[in-house]
Amino acid sequence: MEIALKRSILIPSNELYSPVAGFYDYGPVGKALKRKLEEYWRDFFLRKDGYFEIETVYVLPEVVLKASGHLSCFGDPVVGCTKCGKKFRADHLLEEKGKRCEGAKPEELNNKIKENNIRCPECGGPLGEVGWFNLMFKTNIGPIEGTTGYIRPETAQGIFLDFQRVFRSHGSKLPMGIAQIGKSFRNEISPRQGLVRLREFSQMELEYFFNPNSPTHPKFKRVEKEKFRIYSREEQKKGTDNCIELTAREAVERKIVPNEIMAYFMGREMQFYLKLGIPYDALRFRHMLPEETPHYSGGNIDLEVKTSVGWVEVIGNAYRTDYDLKSHSKSSGKDLSVSLEDGGKVMPHVVEPSFGVDRTILCMLEHCYRKGGDAERRDWEWFDFPAFLSPFEAAVLPLMKKDGLAEKATELADSLREKGFDVLYDETGSIGKRYARQDEIGTPYCITIDYDTLKEGTVTIRFRNDGKQTREKIDKLEEKLHSFIKGNVLCLP
Ligand code: GAP
Repeated sequence: MEIALKRSILIPSNELYSPVAGFYDYGPVGKALKRKLEEYWRDFFLRKDGYFEIETVYVLPEVVLKASGHLSCFGDPVVGCTKCGKKFRADHLLEEKGKRCEGAKPEELNNKIKENNIRCPECGGPLGEVGWFNLMFKTNIGPIEGTTGYIRPETAQGIFLDFQRVFRSHGSKLPMGIAQIGKSFRNEISPRQGLVRLREFSQMELEYFFNPNSPTHPKFKRVEKEKFRIYSREEQKKGTDNCIELTAREAVERKIVPNEIMAYFMGREMQFYLKLGIPYDALRFRHMLPEETPHYSGGNIDLEVKTSVGWVEVIGNAYRTDYDLKSHSKSSGKDLSVSLEDGGKVMPHVVEPSFGVDRTILCMLEHCYRKGGDAERRDWEWFDFPAFLSPFEAAVLPLMKKDGLAEKATELADSLREKGFDVLYDETGSIGKRYARQDEIGTPYCITIDYDTLKEGTVTIRFRNDGKQTREKIDKLEEKLHSFIKGNVLCLP
């Protein structure tokens, strides 16, 4: 977080006034990384499998969230200090003292807080009674006593509301995947750890609608041998950190995952996070305990990443069954079941992988961060992003500003941008300092314009990870950069 703030990868929102906890802006480097991550997800999870992406509204009328169960179930236990008035997550206060309390009701938490004599972490004052706090931001739709609305707490609800129209206009055939990338809002009681618990954050959610009588995935065979580590319910109850390693196929056979569809997504998720630069040992699937499972879910398996603040959930994989479509059918009076080719009717079931964009970015920043020092022959901190996700793919640097070098470099930067590359131009300071600045934001290739460029039409390309250089003809540059990015070539080949 320190380095992300120093380089304006992230910016605390409303910094000019008093920043409000739980909100962050993305600066140019952060936004470019976020855009590339979302684009990669779109390609990896949607385009390759032929799923659809839609965009739905942020503000939902109360009736929708009543039907979805969010009005009654979507909350956290809160407790306030009777001395300083600060509010806290009651379960977090207990967990911080090593007391387990997953899924505990407010009365149970109250008792545990009293038994363990837990006091206000800010001022040491006595705590009041534990209450229940709904996490949705409430608003008024329309002026003066308009309709009550809420800002969406997940992007998924919009997909359920639009399901029938999308289904009918796009083939009327199950299975069908419908996705959305966008913001969600939760009025978290105690936002913390930078991007981990935000009040406004982005999600990439995919709802896979299928016939419950055939819970299979047509591409399962492609990932059935993919291995992953599972942190089972038994090991969590024992309080150990042990994981078992299984293939996607074994996880289905041992009934650890509810069906092949969820195992398919878990296999793909492993492939995806490894590509982002997160090592295998820093990834595990945690089988959620029954008491923690969300109100809509028939089984949840989260993907977690190991970070300096502990294991962080980056994906919630939920088997939502027909919970949402059935609830909206009942509440709206409109039948959302679909006709099958054989003439029957069925209420589709749903498996949902729900990715947190901001948490994934935090994990990338942490796992791609390099301290510098002798081992890398440089004494500055840098980011080892995969080339295809680096916020900027290349920087064009004139060795000097004079003798036409700056003009030639500007011309080259513009021509690479025209060809679709994300390029920075920098002419300020010594060439060594400029290389360091690019390493610091993870730019994989620095292209230097020197006097030989003017004479021979060649440039040097410096590779971020070993600092070594090669000389290439300008007219071969586009092709070379494409092949380096595609092959993730980060050292001199
Ligand atoms: N539609 C299902 C759903 O929203 P979730 O487990 O509540 O499930 C999915 O959220 C993902 O969204 C989480 O795994 C996490 O990555 C991200 N997320 C949830 N709450 C968040 C918060 N307050 N701040 C940042 N990311 C959050």
